[in-house]
Amino acid sequence: MPINADRIRRDIETINSFNATPGKGITRQTFTAEYQGAVNYVIDQCNQFGADVSVCPGGNVRCRLAGSDESAPAVMMGSHLDSVVNGGRFDGVAGVVTALEAARSMAEDIASHRLPVDVVIFPEEEGSRFGRGLLGSSIWTGILDADQIISIEDANGISYLEAMNLAGFKVDENRLLEPAAVAAMLEIHIEQGAVLEKRGHRIGLVEAIAGIQQLNIKIKGTADHAGTTPMAQRSDPLQAAARIIIEIDKIARSTGPRTVATVGRIVCEPGQVNVIPGIVRFSVDVRDSDEKLLESAVGAILQMVQSVCNQHHLEVESVRLSEAEPVVLSDTIIDLLEKKSIEKNIRPYKMISGAGHDTALIAGLTRAGMIFVPSRDGLSHCPQEDSSIEDIALAAEILLAAVIELAK
Ligand code: GLV
Ligand code: MN
Ligand code: MN
Repeated sequence: MPINADRIRRDIETINSFNATPGKGITRQTFTAEYQGAVNYVIDQCNQFGADVSVCPGGNVRCRLAGSDESAPAVMMGSHLDSVVNGGRFDGVAGVVTALEAARSMAEDIASHRLPVDVVIFPEEEGSRFGRGLLGSSIWTGILDADQIISIEDANGISYLEAMNLAGFKVDENRLLEPAAVAAMLEIHIEQGAVLEKRGHRIGLVEAIAGIQQLNIKIKGTADHAGTTPMAQRSDPLQAAARIIIEIDKIARSTGPRTVATVGRIVCEPGQVNVIPGIVRFSVDVRDSDEKLLESAVGAILQMVQSVCNQHHLEVESVRLSEAEPVVLSDTIIDLLEKKSIEKNIRPYKMISGAGHDTALIAGLTRAGMIFVPSRDGLSHCPQEDSSIEDIALAAEILLAAVIELAK
């Protein structure tokens, strides 16, 4: 059966009906009731075409369409259903619904395939609840050990594993994901930038995914009275943080053409109008597709943070929160996706992804590829995020054609 754009539209709408912030974009944080609702909807759809559903380490969900050879490695496709706070309708969702539609249409087809075909849902891709992105795939691939996993908790002190249990995700497939178990990984995603739209392409093929380093910086000064403490006698960490944040921007601009750095979260304590702050904590997210430039930017930032805090006589702690190396995707898969695009009279554009994706970690185990569809006005991680269903369905057709060939 061919790809059915109406079913894709319906799946996107249903998944986005599970939303904690109606009217203010999509908020679906990992292991909340909304998340559970959306995942259960996809599981239910997969059950309807006879898929075998497993919950894997870390709460990754795998819906398997059996092939004729049960012991063969699987062709995996999918993405994530968690969102940032007040995010958009397509980030992650586009990859899950297209994988679902491709598997559904393979199940409806009488032609058999040898390899199992998996629809996967990776939890906590965004890191917006537990503070660390690509968390589900990091656990499944064994990047994080048991001690590290146990220490991960949300802002209310609920641990990742406890939240997973409370949401009803009980692991029934204990094995970590090993190279021998996966034949290929394919993920469709919205571009989240404006390159495809500006260049007039409907399909992008990802050649590399930028590396990401995220830091947490804590600067400690002395909370004191805003009216009685002379300027010369203050130990104000927010003043140092302000200087540091400006320098971070300068370092990103002067490192490389694709280096980006963002301070997206800042917390100031005690956060009172008439109190000099005592502690400031902020995050730094640095990205580059060139590992040397990424390391050089992060090194320069850490050195600068220390030097500004020394000048201000302030204590500072810098913690590396997460690291994902830049990843080059498989030439074999890119060639296959290009061939399948051209067969549909589509000329794809080859590009680099500035956003992080679970496929970057799965690419350490197997041949991996990603298909991008244009994002309207390049907007993402916001309620205005938009992509056309026709483009998403086209990407699903290319995905399906590639998976049929890989699963033969
Ligand atoms: C995820 O969307 C990321 O790129 O941080
Ligand atoms: Mn995403
Ligand atoms: Mn995202």
